[in-house]
Amino acid sequence: MECSPRPSSTRVLSLWTLLIGSFNIAGLRPGPTVWAESLDAVNLSAVAGGNATLPCDTMSPQPPDALLLVVWYKNDVPIYSYDGRDKGPDAHWADASLAGRARWHAAPHSSLRIRDVVPSDRALYRCRVDFKVSPTRNYKFMLHVIELPEKPKIFDEADKEVVNVAGPYIEDTSLKLTCVVSGGKPMPRLRWKRRDEVVAKLDPVEDDTRLSLLELRIPKLTRAYFEAMYTCEADNTALVPPLRVHVRIQLYLRPLLVEILAREQPISVGQEAELACRAVGSRPAAIITWWLDDKPMIVSSPQKNSKDRNETVSFLRWTPRMEHDGRVLTCRASHANLEHATLETSMKLNLHYVPIVVLQLGSKLNPNDIEEGDDVYFECVVRANPPAYKVVWEHNGQVMTHNQRAGVIAGSAHLALQGVSREQAGKYVCIASNVEGDGRSTPVTLQVIYKPVCKNAMVAIVGAALNEAARVACEVDAYPPPKNFQWTLNNSMGTNELEAAKYTIEKSGRSILTYTPATDTDYGSLACRATNLAGQQIEPCRYTLLPAVKPDPPTNCSTLNLTDDSAELRCLAGYDGGLQTTYFVEAWEAGSLIANVSKITPVWKLQGLGSGKALKLVFYANNARGRSDATTLRVHTLSRLALHTEAKHSNLTNMDTSWALGIIAGAVGTLAAVAIVALLARKRHHRPLQYEAPLHTGKAYKGALHNHSPLQPDDKNPDVVPLGKDFNCTRDSERPPEPPPYGVVVSPPVGSSRSVHSLHERANTPHTPHTPNTPASDAQSIGTLAEDRRSVTSGTLSRRREVVTTRTPLLANARESCV
Ligand SMILES: *[C@@H]1O[C@H](CO)[C@@H](O)[C@H](O)[C@H]1NC(C)=O
Ligand SMILES: *[C@@H]1O[C@H](CO)[C@@H](O)[C@H](O)[C@H]1NC(C)=O
Ligand SMILES: *[C@@H]1O[C@H](CO)[C@@H](O)[C@H](O)[C@H]1NC(C)=O
Ligand SMILES: *[C@@H]1O[C@H](CO)[C@@H](O)[C@H](O)[C@H]1NC(C)=O
Ligand SMILES: *[C@@H]1O[C@H](CO)[C@@H](O)[C@H](O)[C@H]1NC(C)=O
Ligand SMILES: *[C@@H]1O[C@H](CO)[C@@H](O)[C@H](O)[C@H]1NC(C)=O
Ligand SMILES: *[C@@H]1O[C@H](CO)[C@@H](O)[C@H](O)[C@H]1NC(C)=O
Repeated sequence: MECSPRPSSTRVLSLWTLLIGSFNIAGLRPGPTVWAESLDAVNLSAVAGGNATLPCDTMSPQPPDALLLVVWYKNDVPIYSYDGRDKGPDAHWADASLAGRARWHAAPHSSLRIRDVVPSDRALYRCRVDFKVSPTRNYKFMLHVIELPEKPKIFDEADKEVVNVAGPYIEDTSLKLTCVVSGGKPMPRLRWKRRDEVVAKLDPVEDDTRLSLLELRIPKLTRAYFEAMYTCEADNTALVPPLRVHVRIQLYLRPLLVEILAREQPISVGQEAELACRAVGSRPAAIITWWLDDKPMIVSSPQKNSKDRNETVSFLRWTPRMEHDGRVLTCRASHANLEHATLETSMKLNLHYVPIVVLQLGSKLNPNDIEEGDDVYFECVVRANPPAYKVVWEHNGQVMTHNQRAGVIAGSAHLALQGVSREQAGKYVCIASNVEGDGRSTPVTLQVIYKPVCKNAMVAIVGAALNEAARVACEVDAYPPPKNFQWTLNNSMGTNELEAAKYTIEKSGRSILTYTPATDTDYGSLACRATNLAGQQIEPCRYTLLPAVKPDPPTNCSTLNLTDDSAELRCLAGYDGGLQTTYFVEAWEAGSLIANVSKITPVWKLQGLGSGKALKLVFYANNARGRSDATTLRVHTLSRLALHTEAKHSNLTNMDTSWALGIIAGAVGTLAAVAIVALLARKRHHRPLQYEAPLHTGKAYKGALHNHSPLQPDDKNPDVVPLGKDFNCTRDSERPPEPPPYGVVVSPPVGSSRSVHSLHERANTPHTPHTPNTPASDAQSIGTLAEDRRSVTSGTLSRRREVVTTRTPLLANARESCV
């Protein structure tokens, strides 16, 4: 019932009932006689509550004439009089009905003024002026009392009074505002105005309701009406300004557009991106939300409104992940009050990312069955945005290059290896690059099956004593690691396979033979062959099993770094006799041992030697079979003072000042040198083959020469002989070698370390029975010994030298000697 529109008459009635209390219906209506008389009267208007001035000319037409009486009649009833003859206050008389509101004034213009006009003042007034002489005059006035209407009131569609603001209205709906004015006499004129422009008006209509209504109708509230100001005006006189009421139209506007602002930078996976979404036209400001595939996203920063509040921007800070690629990002602008006014815009995420690379071995290949010579190919599957501009292949961390001739065909998606070799086994990686970075695949290991190959290409010499277990390790390179090994011994008895009990096979693919020669015939040449999935080793690992002997002495000993307190020394190792050998150096100073150091390799470092010492260094090797001969080397550790003085002399100015001193020092030095040379000459007679190396460098030597002061320890040394860098060492003839158990012949290759003189020296020693006198006779010696059925001959070849060891039963108990 309440929803049905009421007839307008009913509504007016309701307004009427609403306002009736405020109606002023007071006012007398003049009688018909008055109206008849008033025809020639002057019309005067006065606003109720205001003042009315009724003029009446009291000037006599003939000046000497005097005013006698002025009488005012209201509807022919006297109400006010002024007696011109009476000068006192009693000259004025007013009827009680005026309640003291009226007063007659003579100047400046004689008139009757009525204050606080009330509606009952509406009447026909007559002023009668009497003079002494002149005839009486009459003036007639019709006083119209204007009653102002009430202040207009505005009502909306629901008859609810609107104060200041109308609405809120929704965009594109209609509006009807009613301006209601009650009272007013005469009835007021009504007008609706917008910006001083009249948009609706109502002329006064006299009816009994005394209510004026003027509607403002807007059929469609477009955006143009946003915040529009309307004014309802009511007036019924020009004496006072119109009565006005203002109303502002509040309008809800839908968002007009929403857009995700374009970015210059592409969006990258893993990097925080800032996206902006702009909504325009919504009032109040749009509420912007972000969605990723219908899931709301968290926006931390508040949205910003433009100054005119027409534009709203929301910033989304967000770090996309890989799985977001291709998903839909939506920006939605909704109106706080309008449900169906939501606008949205979406974008499909086109994320940029570092290439995702997957490497796999060709699908038709069995990764466990690739043999040398097979063709192998890899597939590199790259997912990248933007597309990868290059693909690089790596083998064991090394970038590969396309090389068709070598059978390496590297493309962007494939890598082909033609006739794969074992060196090509290992880890393969493909790397794709785009602007986001380089994407590496996880490594794919290529396993190439190949037959075992000996790790040590050289024929190894193994020394073994009779009835002592020797360990021989056979190490091969193979994939997969070998499962089986075969050991053979080739000696004068022919070639025999060794029983499996004699060797072990380790998981790593190594076999260790424990071999105990029981008789002389057990020496010979050992061979080891491994077998794996790919087959049997083609070239066996070879070992020459020799009777173990004591080692050869170290040779070519030299100082690497000689200081005032330390020495770094190195020698070349001789033949180790086929056994684990330790290398010794002893440092002697004037017959007392000051250092004794052993190492597994012939490289030593001696420390705490003391400065300026003349040292004899004795080098030798030692193994289970005994100790080698010794090699000696003489050195001087540097003098601390010498180094200091040398530094001083490098200064040119010092040279000048110490010139005189230099002459004296030189003279003393020369005398000392003569004495030294004499002494040295004598000493040399006893040790003709002894070479001495007093100093390591020419510089240090020079430093020592500069200091011919008797205080210098160097100067006391009689062995100052410059030898440059050549520090050859020789066998110490003072240490006689022990008699060897076997005859040993060594034929040194041309330019080898073995010098002729050392052979000579050796020839002079009476304890080596089988040594020929000259190297030329070596070949003959080997030949004859090889033919000897009673002796075992083993020939081994190494890159450095050839060793031929013979053993005769006669000398079985003798000790071996070495060159
Ligand atoms: C005074 O007003 C009345 C009606 O309001 C009119 O008929 C009359 O002519 C007017 N008199 C003059 C002098 O204007
Ligand atoms: C009416 O007249 C009185 C004095 O006569 C004056 O004080 C008052 O302001 C006047 N009112 C108007 C509305 O002019
Ligand atoms: C709001 O912005 C839109 C688009 O720029 C424009 O068409 C409209 O007139 C603006 N409204 C206001 C009130 O500024
Ligand atoms: C065994 O050694 C002899 C002489 O050294 C040689 O001729 C022969 O070929 C060797 N046999 C094997 C199987 O190595
Ligand atoms: C060892 O010394 C000799 C003689 O001085 C020399 O000919 C030879 O080259 C040296 N050997 C090495 C490996 O330095
Ligand atoms: C020589 O040895 C000294 C002391 O050990 C050391 O400080 C110096 O660096 C070494 N010089 C060279 C060239 O090895
Ligand atoms: C040096 O040391 C080794 C082993 O420690 C020893 O055999 C040798 O006799 C020592 N040399 C001297 C001279 O004492």
